[in-house]
Amino acid sequence: MKNLTTEDIRTLSPYVPGKPVEELERELGITGSVKLASNENPLGPSPKAVEAMRGMLTGVNRYPDGAGHYLRAALSKKYAHPIEGIILGNGSNELLEIIVRTFLLEGEEAVMAAPSFVVYKMAAQASSRKSVVVPCVDGKHDLAAMADAINANTKLVFIANPNNPTGTMNTAAEFDAFMARVPEDVIVVMDEAYFEYATDPEYADSLKHLKAGRRLVILRTFSKAYGLAGLRIGYGLSTPELVDLMNRVRQPFNTNMLAQAAALAALGDSAHIENSVRVNEEGKKYLYAELGRLGIKYIPTHANFIYMEMDRAAGPLYDALLKKGVIVRPMGPTQLRVTIGLMDENRRFINALETII
Ligand SMILES: Cc1ncc(COP(=O)(O)O)c(C=O)c1O
Repeated sequence: MKNLTTEDIRTLSPYVPGKPVEELERELGITGSVKLASNENPLGPSPKAVEAMRGMLTGVNRYPDGAGHYLRAALSKKYAHPIEGIILGNGSNELLEIIVRTFLLEGEEAVMAAPSFVVYKMAAQASSRKSVVVPCVDGKHDLAAMADAINANTKLVFIANPNNPTGTMNTAAEFDAFMARVPEDVIVVMDEAYFEYATDPEYADSLKHLKAGRRLVILRTFSKAYGLAGLRIGYGLSTPELVDLMNRVRQPFNTNMLAQAAALAALGDSAHIENSVRVNEEGKKYLYAELGRLGIKYIPTHANFIYMEMDRAAGPLYDALLKKGVIVRPMGPTQLRVTIGLMDENRRFINALETII
């Protein structure tokens, strides 16, 4: 018999997504639960995005624009970056896979941090490529240690800034020092899924390095602050050379018509982003105060979620919260991650947690 698949795929742990509200409510026979598990925008999508999709609905018998021209043109204008250096993905997640399949050749390695976004390692393993994992320090990417981990076989470095699940960020000074040590032929993937929430003035400026001609892929998404996670659309900013190669691997119609239209409209609704960031800041302030009152340790966040270090096993705590209709995310033996929600959702979480502990 032939092997059905590779050993690497056989031993791959599937990505565990946050539990959908509908599934939880069906299982427990409850209603009115809140999902604070997947770092989604609790305000929903921009009304302009919804309106734009409405206008497209009767046209879905046609294939979408495979080049995503209008959205890429708008992104090109927004970032003053050539349209040839912009690629759309079915979520930034798809771009992570395309990057691995396009650039990580046999015998080459990817450097990444832990804990960080698990898809980097999964994508490498699915292609039977080696990951070199560098531990975070206090939840934050140790960029000096990651630069140390680069060797002659290194092709890719994945950095999540802000990091998921810890919410930490790397500063411009740290990233500049890191880039000065990265060889020119190594591709740095700056995953900035939570970019819009990172308002700290020290936040690393990756675009500057791309504009200076470095081999960078900057990933951003419409799934988080833009509130379009269900549509699956994200984008990469890179050099025209790298984008041209990724386009050969990308499926011709990887982003759909509704997603392209909604993303384009959402991009023009800066008030919705400002409002989303403001609601996030308010929720953050409330949760910091309440977690402090409950004596729960957490890492200050630059994103729309908070990573908490509990004094007990996270699994039973997660289950107990579920039974109270609050979905969070267990992230390690004693770690939980909670998405910052609307104020009444944040209160639901704190009340449930306080009752349990
Ligand atoms: C750091 C990071 N990168 C990428 C993604 C993927 O986002 P999407 O595929 O929805 O754009 C996520 C989603 O949780 C994330 O946290």
